[in-house]
This record gives sequence, C-alpha cells and structure tokens, in this order.
Amino acid sequence: MKKIEFTAVVPVAGAGTRLRPHTYTYPKVLLTVGDKPIIGHILDELKEAGIRKVCLVTGYLGEKIKEYVGTHYKELEVSYVEQPEPKGLGHAIWLTRGRVTGPALVMLGDTIISADLRKFMDSPDDCIAVKEVADPRRFGVVEVKKGYISALAEKPENPPSKLAIVGIYSFRNSARLYAALERLVDSGRTTKGEIQFTDALALLVKDGHKLRPVAIDGWYDCGKPETLLETNRYILNSGKFPSKAKNSLILPPVYISPSAKVENSIIGPYTSIGDGARVVSSIISDSIVNENAFIINMNLSGSLVGPSATVAGRKDKLNVGENSEIRFDRTDCDS
Ligand code: UTP
Repeated sequence: MKKIEFTAVVPVAGAGTRLRPHTYTYPKVLLTVGDKPIIGHILDELKEAGIRKVCLVTGYLGEKIKEYVGTHYKELEVSYVEQPEPKGLGHAIWLTRGRVTGPALVMLGDTIISADLRKFMDSPDDCIAVKEVADPRRFGVVEVKKGYISALAEKPENPPSKLAIVGIYSFRNSARLYAALERLVDSGRTTKGEIQFTDALALLVKDGHKLRPVAIDGWYDCGKPETLLETNRYILNSGKFPSKAKNSLILPPVYISPSAKVENSIIGPYTSIGDGARVVSSIISDSIVNENAFIINMNLSGSLVGPSATVAGRKDKLNVGENSEIRFDRTDCDS
C-alpha cells in the first residue's frame, strides 16, 4: 500500500515569554534540551516518520531559526511563512493556507513528543493527540463520545474532561481545516485575546466532522524553565551521549558536546553542556548550559545558563574554628 505523504506544519513564531530572559535574544526553539535545540528534536522526529516537507511559521527572531534549520536540515524540503504578530496558534496555521495542500500534520514548536507519528498518519480519521492531566484548565480540552471528539474548549474554567490537547494533529484533507480556520478568522472571534486553533477545531466538530482522540504518554513540554529541565532529564535518561571531560567526575546521565571543554569539575546527573561551552572548577547538576557559555568556580543545580553567558563564582579559603557557622546562602541575614 502506498503511504500518503503528509506535510508537517510547525508554528514557531511565538515570543516564548515564559522563558525570558533567554528568549529576549534567542527564539525558544533554539534553546538546548538534551543534546540539541528543541527544533532539532522535532525535525528529527518528523524525519524518522518519513516526512520530507515541512512548513515552519516563523516570526519572532525567525532569521535565527531559518539559519539553524537551513544549516542542519538540508535533506528536508522546508518552506517558511511569516507571522508578523503572534495573534494565536489558529492565526499561525491559517497563514499556511495556499502553501500546504493535501494531508497535513500539525506539530507544536515547544513540545517534544515520543509517539509513533505513523499512528496519526495511517489512521483513516483525522486525529488529535491527547493526554490525561491532573489540571486541564491551562490547556485545550476535549470531550469524547463514542470514540470521537464531541466538543473542544480552550483553557476552560470548568473542563468537560481531564483530556488535554497536547500538540499533534493530523488532517487527511487540509482544505477542510483551512476552510474552518478561514471562517474563524473572518468571524473575528478570539478566546483569551488570541485566534485559537482549538476554536477552529470546535467549528469542524460542530459541522459533524469526525476527529479521533489518540492518547499518548510521551509528551514533554519545553515552555517554562521547570518543564524544560524536566524534558532535559527525560531526554538524557533515554539515550547514550558523549561526556568527555578533563580531570572531572561525571555522574550520568550527562551530555557534554564534543566541542565543549570541561575541566576539574563534577558534572551530573541530568546536565547538558552545549557546543563550545567551557566549564572550569565547578559542580553542576540538573542544569542546561547553552552553547559558548563560560562557567567557573560555581556550584549550580536546577539552572539554565543562556548562550554565551558567563557565570563566575568565588574561591574562598577558610580556617574555621570550633562552633563556627559560615553561611553563603544569606538565610536570616535580612532579619
Ligand atoms: P505557546 O503559547 O506555548 O508559545 O504556543 P509562546 O507564545 O511562544 O510562549 P509564551 O506563552 O509566550 O511563553 C505554542 C506554539 O505555537 C507557536 C509558538 O511558537 C509555540 O511553538 N505560536 C503561538 C505561533 O507560532 N504563533 C502564535 O501566535 C502563537
């Protein structure tokens, strides 16, 4: 049986405000998680599923994204659509009309998914990835009846279920999707100030279109510092990575880029050191150090260090006597 060819639509135009200050100068999708930038994980996943055509919606700091993708993914046929202002996910995808025809697979630019994408593409139905979460109020939420989605709502106060929409959508006929988006944009309707993709999908369902929920477990958010570190832990746990360092103790799982220089340090567990970074005489665990950063004499945990940042601590010499208490953490100092 001939496989149907899907085009991936990946919106990456958002400003990533929850990851400031990193995203003041760097687009979210270029931040390192595990052994490569977020967008690298997404494009590798698409490649693995046999997808060749990708349409990226860029906006905020889009030139940097184009440079990275153009250099590292020459084997993919990548086209770009500009979203001048982040008016919402629905708006971003609506802008790709006329550029994408036939089957489309929409994948969000700030989540890493560990799921068989062929499950979505081989299904005779259009599909949406969902996951049961404890508090669905900050997600798009679906209600399911007889195996199909019967209603959808974006960030509802009173969620109809605990099934959150988690960033993969497949459409065998993208023309139908674009028609719903066109109607939404024409109507001027926004939810929480944005043209929401969930609202366009709700229009499809209202028209009797069948959308099948596909439950996935492997969903890793990269939108906030704590979730980025959590995703980093997951990625480092799931593979074997280089970790060469000089005169240092490595506590796996760890990734140290072959072009990074680490010496006289204790690294790990759950630490990524990006390309060209330098770490000297430091102890780092559960952290991400982005490319070309420089860290010396530091003890870091649960930290994100941006590209080309410098973090330097101090080396002290003490001769501490009986009953001394030396604190560098400032606790109680203000009282
Ligand atoms: P998010 O809302 O999670 O990303 O959108 P954001 O807006 O960049 O982040 P915050 O909320 O300010 O921290 C999910 C995905 O949709 C894209 C984003 O780039 C991200 O990949 N998106 C969102 C767009 O491309 N355009 C938009 O108008 C909104």
